[in-house]
Amino acid sequence: MRLLICGGAGFIGSNFARARVREHGDEVVVLDKLTYAGREENLRDLAGEPGFRFVRGAIEDRAAVEGAVEGAEAIVNFAAETHVDRSITEPDAFVQTSALGTYTLLEAARSRELRYVQISTDEVYGSIEEGSFTEDSPLCPSSPYSASKAGADLLVQSYFHTYGLPATICRGSNNFGPFQYPEKLIPLMVLNALHGEPLPVYGDGQQVRNWLHVGDFGRAIGLVLEGGAHGEVYNVGGPDECPNMEIVERIVELTGAGPELIEHVRDRPGHDRRYSLSSDKVRALGWEPRLGIREGLEQTVAWYRENSWWWEPIRSGDYRAYYERQYGRALIGE
Ligand code: NAD
Ligand code: TYD
Repeated sequence: MRLLICGGAGFIGSNFARARVREHGDEVVVLDKLTYAGREENLRDLAGEPGFRFVRGAIEDRAAVEGAVEGAEAIVNFAAETHVDRSITEPDAFVQTSALGTYTLLEAARSRELRYVQISTDEVYGSIEEGSFTEDSPLCPSSPYSASKAGADLLVQSYFHTYGLPATICRGSNNFGPFQYPEKLIPLMVLNALHGEPLPVYGDGQQVRNWLHVGDFGRAIGLVLEGGAHGEVYNVGGPDECPNMEIVERIVELTGAGPELIEHVRDRPGHDRRYSLSSDKVRALGWEPRLGIREGLEQTVAWYRENSWWWEPIRSGDYRAYYERQYGRALIGE
């Protein structure tokens, strides 16, 4: 296929772009604004490969989209601001990108009759104490991040209902794996543990997340792109649910750090207690997760250990200032 992958320099988008070029022989154009989270080096092994092109630009910039979309059969949109804590302190870019950006991409898809896949999140359903959300559960987002994602999903659905745009939505649970920016729980804890720095657990650490390996999410997105019914939503939940404390304790074990590094800090405002997705609908397309949190976390810790070339520039750059603002203390390392 010929794909325009928006936000393809980020964590999930770059893993997806690599898999599509390598395993499916797709022609891929990545359009990415390169915010702090977008890193060209996430795609460095694809640069120069026939059938791959990188375009720097914002999804809300119509001219950039027009230039990048030429020749595409489908748009897969990963582009978004993605960190809940940043959405609490600086929501502006969340609304800009998710609302105006998604709208601009939908218009480009509509005028060319392209297939469209919106990458969304379990967080649009809000928190659930027991059981799991299905695709029919009501949207009840709690943070500016999840609300901006829910808004984008509604816009996508309106383009299917109003214009017949062949659009689908994939709602994934918490992803983990290589190339994840260290503001997120797993890479933050892994890098802090490797540097002997405190491990800041929000509140009691008993919040539960439904962990999904980034490779498994990518395969599900591929199946939805190829065989998903237009106008439909597909939940993609990982095989394991885990309280944050268990994840952090396992990272302590895998890195050989001391458990005394674990520190309970002030809770996140409006913190969702538990996410859980039922994935029966995407399983009916032939999807099965291949990697659970146990083995996946081992591989992920090994990847961060072996790839300091990737995280060193991040930990010595703007991330330091973010960390200090968010956690009220400086990073020790580098
Ligand atoms: P990320 O923050 O690593 O990457 C986001 C990418 O989007 C970056 O490359 C960034 O430069 C780009 N971007 C941001 N604003 C842009 C704009 N206006 N124009 C063009 N590019 C822009 O995020 P991620 O974890 O890879 O998440 C990708 C998508 O998957 C997001 O839509 C997110 O909501 C969704 N999602 C993430 C998770 C998760 O656990 N990380 C789970 C489910 C769904
Ligand atoms: P995060 O990776 O930010 O993903 P999300 O909030 O989108 O699920 O956080 C995952 C969980 O880890 C969430 O319950 C918040 C918690 N957390 C901490 O306890 N400490 C941290 O420093 C971070 C970043 C997250």
